[in-house]
Formats: sequence, structure tokens, C-alpha cells
Amino acid sequence: MSIISGDLVSVKLDIFKSGMKIDYSIYREKNREFYLLCKDVVLTDELIERFKDLTYPHHDVYIPGAQYDNILREKNKQKNKLKRTVFKKSYEQTKQNTSKMLDRISKENSVPIEVAEELSKTMHKQIETMEISHIIQSINSVRQVDEQLHTHSVNVALLNGIIGKWLKLDKHDLAALVMIGLLHDIGKLKIPQDILNKPSKLNKAEFELMMKHPIYSSELLENSGFTDERILQGVIQHHERVNGMGYPYGLNIGSIIDFARITAISDVYETMITKKDYKGGRSPFEVLSWFAEGCYSELDFNYVMAFLESMVEELKGKRVRLSNGKAARVMFLHVSNFAYPIVELDGDIIHTSEDIKCVSIIDE
Ligand SMILES: [Fe+2]
Repeated sequence: MSIISGDLVSVKLDIFKSGMKIDYSIYREKNREFYLLCKDVVLTDELIERFKDLTYPHHDVYIPGAQYDNILREKNKQKNKLKRTVFKKSYEQTKQNTSKMLDRISKENSVPIEVAEELSKTMHKQIETMEISHIIQSINSVRQVDEQLHTHSVNVALLNGIIGKWLKLDKHDLAALVMIGLLHDIGKLKIPQDILNKPSKLNKAEFELMMKHPIYSSELLENSGFTDERILQGVIQHHERVNGMGYPYGLNIGSIIDFARITAISDVYETMITKKDYKGGRSPFEVLSWFAEGCYSELDFNYVMAFLESMVEELKGKRVRLSNGKAARVMFLHVSNFAYPIVELDGDIIHTSEDIKCVSIIDE
């Protein structure tokens, strides 16, 4: 872009696409004179071709400077939309492939290492190359009762990778974290479905069996040839808690490895977002509020702080659906009250509350 006069700026013709609605003037230049090409039109391929002929060979056109920002914003929006579509497709594919791998583990009682590594590599790549906000949007998306282990496994793997990225871990640690997320719950394949999906409270025997799933996960991995101690320990310790109240061993804080502490955060966040364990599910704002207020006795303080800080940055500026059905934009989240952010609604700034609260994030 270069500024020609106080008002007109030059841009390349290729920023205009067929179907764009032009409610301003576009000019061409010849011998320092400006000639109107069009105004108040919807561009067509024919029109664009004609403009190409008229602006040959450089294809420079001139528009009011005030329109330039709007065009850039629109261009970024389109680019963002395309990137989001690419991620969604890849996310769905990863879930399907994970589901197939879990079926194989169930049938063969063994983890196909090469398949798990391939999946983990794909997710690692998604985290490196895709927009983190698109990944979080998919994890946060409202869904019905989700009893599917593959969705949970993929989401925990992605969350582990995102937290690892925020913590600036190296690629080997990041790969191990993603792998732990992907495989942490495979031991549930050995628990009867009626216990896993029981709507009422588990009895003592059922609960004791359920509490063994991290051991089963780790055993399956060891028997399949996994030797990385960080992965084995991360998997077996993902339900241990820093107050010693976790399971299966009730380890104390000093014995829980960092990868298990991080996986515990991803696991709890993912579980709270879904509807299975918490009535009606919770919005990301309510979940973060719980993290900020109620979890320090259970989860690692430093990792929770890092998680909260980065999540809050991701949520700022997002469009949200309010409980009154209207759409608003998040302006500010206060550390003392994540559940009720300040939003912009129809040009007004409002404090959300129990009466009007954010229920979900709009995919835009
Ligand atoms: Fe688990």
C-alpha cells in the first residue's frame, strides 16, 4: 500500500474477489489523473477481468484510505476462517483415528506403538502449526453427554501439548506430554461399560475397580513395549493429587512427577467442560473460576497459575453466547471472578452475573 494523496491509497487489484460488496469508489490512474472504475457494486469475475485490462500491466487501483483497514480486517477474517476449517478437519480425523486405535487396543490387549506415535506426532504438529485459539475452541465446544474415550483422550493430549507450549518445554518433553494425554485412560478399556457409564454413584467395589484404571493403563503400555519412564509414570500418576488424596497410591506432593501434574490439569479441565460428570456441563469461564478458587489443594499451584494466565489471554476478545440468548464480546476477565467477565453487548459494556452469564463461546 502507498499513500497517493491525502485520501487515496494504492492497492493491488488481486485483493478484490468476486462477490465482494464495494460501497466506496475504486479508481485507476493514468497520467496522474484518477478515473472512477466502480462504486456501489458487487464485484463479479467479469468486472475484475475488465479492471485488469484497464490497469495493465501493474494492476494498481486506488481506494479511499479509510477503506484500507476494513479490507485488511476482512482479509484476515477470511484467512482465519480457512485456518479454522483446516484444523477442524484435522481434529475430526485425529479423533476417528484415535477411536480406531482404542478399538485395536481393546481387541488385541496391546498398544500399537507406531500408531500411537503417529497420532501423537500429528497432534504435536497441530499444536506447532495451528492457532491455539482454534484448538481450544474445539475442546471447549458444547457437546452432549460424551462418553467417548477417544474425544477425551485427544482433548487431553492437545491440552497437554498446549500447556507444554505455554511453558516453553522442548519438543521431546512436548511429545511425551502429548503421548501421556493420548494414552492416560486406556486402562478404562478394561473397566466394564456399565460401571464407566453408571449415572448414579459408584459403590465401594466399583469405585475401587475404577481407581485401578491408571495402573491398567501403565501395565498395557509396559506390556506393549513402552519404556519411557516419564510416559509410564505420567500415565499412572494422572489421578494423584498434591494433597496426597489422589489415587491409585495417594502419593505425596514430592513423589508426583511434573508431567502427571500437568496431565491432571488437562484431565480435570476437559472433564469439567463436558456434560458427563458435571450437571449440564460448565462454560470455560466457570471452569476457570473453579481452577482459580477451588483447586489449589489438589492441583499444582504453579502450573495452574500458568494455565490460567494463558487461558485468560485466549478468552479475551472472544464472542460469547449469553444466557439471554444474545451474542457479546469478552472485554475483560478479572482474576477474582473468572466466571463473570465484562463483555460488550450491543455497544454497551456490561458486567455479566448469575442473571446474565456467558454460557458458551461462539465459533467465528
Ligand atoms: Fe483417568
